[in-house]
This record gives sequence, structure tokens and C-alpha cells, in this order.
Amino acid sequence: MAALRAVVSTGTGRTLLAAPKAVHSSRASMSFSSLSRGKKVALSTLGVLAAGGAGLALALQQSVKASDLELHPPSYPWSHAGILSSLDHASIRRGYQVYKQVCSACHSMEYLAFRNLVGVSHTEAEVKTLAEEIEVVDGPDDTGEMFTRPGKLSDYFPKPYPNSEAARAANNGALPPDLSYIVNARHGGEDYVFSLLTGYCDPPAGVQVREGLYYNPYFPGQAIGMGPPIYNEVLEYDDDGTPATMSQVAKDVCTFLRWAAEPEHDQRKRMGLKLILGAAILTPLVYYMKRHRWSVLKSRKIAYRPPK
Ligand code: HEC
Repeated sequence: MAALRAVVSTGTGRTLLAAPKAVHSSRASMSFSSLSRGKKVALSTLGVLAAGGAGLALALQQSVKASDLELHPPSYPWSHAGILSSLDHASIRRGYQVYKQVCSACHSMEYLAFRNLVGVSHTEAEVKTLAEEIEVVDGPDDTGEMFTRPGKLSDYFPKPYPNSEAARAANNGALPPDLSYIVNARHGGEDYVFSLLTGYCDPPAGVQVREGLYYNPYFPGQAIGMGPPIYNEVLEYDDDGTPATMSQVAKDVCTFLRWAAEPEHDQRKRMGLKLILGAAILTPLVYYMKRHRWSVLKSRKIAYRPPK
């Protein structure tokens, strides 16, 4: 009686896997060397022409790119760039002052509420005072009328314009984008915004910029509808006596904008560290357990012994 016997032995079942026979057909033997001389020449010419054409197209495409004049922002050594570094909260505080005194004349930050600043850049009492400086339309009251009241912690940052048409009308047709998520919304993040703010310069010879636009090599197209918003001593910092140089102001507002776009930044890095530390302990443990549990199965060998 022919029977299959599974036994634990040192043999392997590899012999069971016979290699399939190679299939030969007349097509399989077709190759370049088997072609006639004329066909060989024609094929080679076609190949050379195709490669040459592709090369020419590439060269032309690159030679007429207008974006050649565009500068790519360098990567700046932000103090929050490291995998374990937190945001510089004194800088966020100064950056908020820059936003409030300079940028907020044109740019909204409609996803930020005053309460978001509490414990980040200001104390609760400070934020309450800041919020009370603005007037908020609320209501209706008992008589159905809308009324204005001083702002409170739960109010969102006030907008400079009631709608985007009004914003365009006041800025030569250019729309100042909302800055809440701007560092995530632009390639290059805070490096780009910093370069943009500090990068205004005279256009190179032969380049004309239309009336009402400004030359900035970091802006795609180089002609931006925003005039240089900051310069040395554009404002005076309230608290810490930091000199308000142009690059300092740009750096502070960029740190503030990074926090606005990513308020979970510090928490995220702290969680990441905890996760890595936890995983460093757990991974070897789990690996050891896996080896232990599987050892019986893994050390077994199944072989086929044909009956004699
Ligand atoms: C006088 C009004 C005005 C002020 C003040 C102003 N901006 Fe602008 N900003 C604009 C306008 C208008 C645009 C749109 C430009 C365009 O699309 O050509 C713009 C665009 C931008 C952009 C987007 C650029 C892009 O890549 O699309 C950023 C970022 C920006 N501003 C940041 C700031 C910051 C930060 C401040 C404060 C330091 C500031 N702006 C102050 C008017 C202003």
C-alpha cells in the first residue's frame, strides 16, 4: 500500500518541486542579431533619433523655464528644528506682537482664538486684557438688536476685512491669505516665509515689475502684491528688550506662525520620545516571547519518504 508518511527527519521536501520544462517557441528565438542588415540599420536609426529628440525636448524645456529666476529658500537652523526641541515660547510671544501690530492690518488668522494663547505665550489674565481690547458684535439681545461687547477668551482673532472682495479692493486686487496655517500651506514652511519677508530687493536688470507689485525672488513669479511689511525697528518689543531687527522680527513671526499651524508641536515631540523609549523596552521583550512560542513549530521538519 502506497502511503504518505510525514516524519520528523533531516530530509527536505525540496525534491518535490520539479522545475517546469522550459517552453520553446519560434518567437522566443527572435533577437536583434537574427534580423537582416537593412532592418538592423533602420532600427538603430530609429533609436538614435528617438534619444536625440528626447534630449532636445528636455534641453528646450529647461532653457525656457521662467522659474529659473526663483530662489529656493535655504533651510535655516530653527531652534525648534531638532527631533526633541520644543518651540521657543518667548519667540512665539514676540511673534504674536508682530502679527498683531503689523500683519493683522491685512491678514486674518481666523482659526485662532484668544484662549489658544493661554499657557503658550501669555497668562490667562494677559490674554483677557488682550481680548478686551477688541469689539465683538454679539446678540441678538432681548429686544432683537445686535450689540457690541468687549472680546473674551472664546472669541476668535478679529479679521481686518469683512470679506475677500473688500480685502482685494484694499490691496490692488491681491488677496492677503489667512495666516493660520500658512507655514503648512507653503512649500518650505517657515524657511519660505522668513525668506519672503526678508528677501525683497531691486529687480535684476531687464526685469520690469508692474505698478503696485514688488520684486521678491522667493515668491513664485517674483512679483508679489505685498509691499515689504517689515524692516529694522518696525516695532518695539514690549517685554524683554530684544532688539527688533528685521531678521529678528521675521524669525519671531515665523515661530509664531509655526505654532499657529501646529499647536501640538511640543506635545507631539514629547509623545514621540515616550513612544521610542517604551518601544525600546517592549520590542526585545516581544521578540523574545515570539521566539519562545514559535520554537516548537520552527524546529520541526516535515519530509516525504516514499515507501520502498
Ligand atoms: C499692507 C498689507 C499687508 C501687510 C501689512 C502684510 N501683508 Fe502679507 N500679503 C499681503 C498681500 C496683498 C498678499 C498677497 C500677495 C500676492 O498674492 O501677490 C500677502 C501675502 C502674504 C503671504 C503669502 C505669500 C505666498 O506665498 O502666497 C505671506 C506668507 C504673508 N503675506 C505674510 C505676511 C506677514 C508674516 C506679515 C507681517 C509681518 C504680512 N504678510 C504683512 C498684504 C500684506
